[in-house]
Amino acid sequence: MIKLEPQIIKLPKFLDPRGNLSFIEDNQQIPFKIARTYWIYDVPGGETRGGHAYYELQEFIVALSGSFDVVLHDGKKEHRFLLNRSYYGLYVPKLYWRSMENFSTNSLALVLADKEYNEKDYIRDFDELKALRNA
Ligand code: TYD
Repeated sequence: MIKLEPQIIKLPKFLDPRGNLSFIEDNQQIPFKIARTYWIYDVPGGETRGGHAYYELQEFIVALSGSFDVVLHDGKKEHRFLLNRSYYGLYVPKLYWRSMENFSTNSLALVLADKEYNEKDYIRDFDELKALRNA
């Protein structure tokens, strides 16, 4: 059973001289059923993505190529995770402020989410997140 807190999750890895293989299945390696997949690519040097939290959405982020940092904030403390391998990823629960930064050239961020896109689920005001967390 995976605890619903931010954590790096190692994925299965089939090493093969023909090329390696990893995979993710609903509710197996990650604690949710995948409703949506998106990816972030062609990020110019120095740019930051994210800068928001979600009321309900959970995500799992993998650096399929290259590297970047995911910075999570729970309203009190910041946690920084370097993603730079395609055989592990970061589980991000709801109600964590999250930014993605320090993208390397040609990095590719794969994001799996447990809900369809909904702009209303975004928390874009850090003070609101803090208030919700500390209520
Ligand atoms: P956003 O989540 O704000 O990007 P980031 O947090 O990485 O900076 O998304 C940017 C735009 O892309 C947003 O205006 C709407 C669109 N979008 C979708 O239509 N569907 C999606 O699944 C996502 C993630 C974004």
